[in-house]
Amino acid sequence: MRVLVTGASGHIGSAVVPELLGAGHQVVGLARSDSSAAALEAAGAAVHRGDLDDLDSLSRAAADADGVIHLAFKHEAMRSGDFMGAIAADLAATEAVGAALAGSDKPFVSTSGTLMLVFGGITGRPGTEQDAIEGGPRVDAENAVVALADRGVRSSVVRLPPLVHSMLDHHGFGPTLIGIAREKGVSGYVGDGSNRWPAVHTLDAARVYRLALETAKPGTRLHAVADAGVPFRDIAGAIGSQLGLPTASVANDDAMEHFSFLGPFVSLDNPISSDLTRQWLGWQPANLGLIEDLEDGHYFAT
Ligand SMILES: NC(=O)c1ccc[n+]([C@@H]2O[C@H](COP(=O)([O-])OP(=O)(O)OC[C@H]3O[C@@H](n4cnc5c(N)ncnc54)[C@H](OP(=O)(O)O)[C@@H]3O)[C@@H](O)[C@H]2O)c1
Repeated sequence: MRVLVTGASGHIGSAVVPELLGAGHQVVGLARSDSSAAALEAAGAAVHRGDLDDLDSLSRAAADADGVIHLAFKHEAMRSGDFMGAIAADLAATEAVGAALAGSDKPFVSTSGTLMLVFGGITGRPGTEQDAIEGGPRVDAENAVVALADRGVRSSVVRLPPLVHSMLDHHGFGPTLIGIAREKGVSGYVGDGSNRWPAVHTLDAARVYRLALETAKPGTRLHAVADAGVPFRDIAGAIGSQLGLPTASVANDDAMEHFSFLGPFVSLDNPISSDLTRQWLGWQPANLGLIEDLEDGHYFAT
């Protein structure tokens, strides 16, 4: 297949591109800068120059492809406080790609996150692929993709856990937590730290995207989750141990001050099942788990 990949130059895209090429697909990566275009060409992909906000250009590229994987997200806007702007741009891009593919039966694999399930009220049990939330930030885009199944698109959404980890991860939540621990001199968790975060190795996540592109049924939600739920205290402990810093509880009231923009997330309990994804796609994680990857040391080399 000739596959348009948005966000191909990003953390997860940089694993999805070789995964697709290795399976015999051609990749066209969306690139908004010379440096991203050069990185994509060096990786063996063709380039479609354009910005997520240029919906006409994005639609043309989607219509020219045999399938689309959507990974681009305006994280810079999100980090600078314009979260809703990033959310709106993602929804608009999703709808533009969906309209371009309508009636084609082509695959469209998009991206969401497991944390949205907590905000949608899925608590006290592992979230599953069959849990759907009515609406909200990112959830609206997820639901729009699923609904494309009724418009002749083989659509699916990959929900990613908050920790997608590997040597390719330079600015995700993992490096952010490490940076906070360095700055504060302590690796923190909230309360007793028994709340669980799911995780996946980047290379395992990339395989979910390829398998979804090739085989997912229309309108499926998928969980690229290897570690179903690692107690946050253990994550903080591994980070503290690697940095030679103490690990300690942070009071709930101090979470925003301590963890900055991660404050609203660090105390969430987000256990996630990926049983159906494994069954539907024949997927099995094959790379290091979160704690083993943290103990590998590469996150702490600089
Ligand atoms: N990494 C995680 O742990 C994690 C966890 C849960 C969900 N997710 C989601 O997974 C997706 C991929 O994440 P990631 O970690 O790979 O992100 P990333 O490393 O920040 O990469 C973002 C990608 O989006 C592109 N992009 C940003 N703004 C753009 C714009 N205006 N026009 C065109 N392209 C634009 C970037 O291009 P440039 O190269 O030009 O910057 C880059 O290729 C996102 O939806 C993210 O929210 C990630």
